[in-house]
Amino acid sequence: MSSYVITGASRGMGWEFMRQLSRDPSNTVIGIVRDKLPTAKRVADELEGRSNITIIEADITKYEDIKRAATQAAIVTGGRLDYLFANAGQSMFWDAFEPIGILAEQPEEFENVFSLMMNTNVLANIHLYTLFMPQILKGGAKTVVNLTSAMGDVEFTKDQDLTLGSLYATSKAAMNMVTTKFAAQYKKDNVLFLGICPGVVNTGQFDNVTPAQMAKFKPMLDTWQQYAPDFKGPVGPESAVGDVLSVVQKCSVENGDSGAILSHLGTKQWL
Ligand SMILES: NC(=O)c1ccc[n+]([C@@H]2O[C@H](COP(=O)([O-])OP(=O)(O)OC[C@H]3O[C@@H](n4cnc5c(N)ncnc54)[C@H](OP(=O)(O)O)[C@@H]3O)[C@@H](O)[C@H]2O)c1
Repeated sequence: MSSYVITGASRGMGWEFMRQLSRDPSNTVIGIVRDKLPTAKRVADELEGRSNITIIEADITKYEDIKRAATQAAIVTGGRLDYLFANAGQSMFWDAFEPIGILAEQPEEFENVFSLMMNTNVLANIHLYTLFMPQILKGGAKTVVNLTSAMGDVEFTKDQDLTLGSLYATSKAAMNMVTTKFAAQYKKDNVLFLGICPGVVNTGQFDNVTPAQMAKFKPMLDTWQQYAPDFKGPVGPESAVGDVLSVVQKCSVENGDSGAILSHLGTKQWL
């Protein structure tokens, strides 16, 4: 019997975390979404009878929204939260197909996308961690997980010469440091902070990729195939969420894991 808060629960992996974790009726599962009504309706339609789910509305880029969400969550959790999943994230096609030096030739658009990525993927999560920390400190599991990406790993980028997705990758790298800084601060309180990459997961992001865009992806896919010959392409959210939860269960502050940035395998093997 545990309590969970998951951001970005409207779709993709956030929805899947909520679906899997609420299967146990003794769990309390809180999904934070930007627009409450469609997700509440989806819960009623697809997860009928799961009275252990609460949907709270917040745009995580708005500090007051997160603060209000934390207050509302505390009413549900009794002020004691076991797990916080900082899953909501912004990825965009704008930076997906060209290297950073080409993108930066359009400074205005570059700054807009950079701000959106950093505000959503980094700054919002700093506020999220901070505003939920009183509840985490009173919880049993005391675990905070950020859904990070292999794209944010400096060594992987260097070794594979990864040129694409540079703004997204930069935001994920920055967030990794944030997670590790929080881990350093709260180690004495036995709080486990992790950044976990779920692998390459099909959550609909490839639906509208044109053949021309796919051709720009191809060299990166070839590189990945060499890096991990068993890599067979994107997996579905169901297995990816299962992988992330299994890594979380194997980690502990006592074993020195807090602040670690890991793959879905619980290692630095990203694919
Ligand atoms: N899919 C992958 O292959 C992959 C790989 C590595 C890491 N990740 C990371 O894993 C996480 C989940 O990925 P995903 O593929 O499931 O993402 P997704 O399908 O794009 O869903 C993103 C979620 O974040 C929410 N969100 C975005 N901005 C928000 C905001 N300002 N306030 C509140 N919610 C906001 C979205 O809500 P709306 O419905 O309102 O837009 C949505 O629920 C992300 O952090 C992503 O970077 C994914």
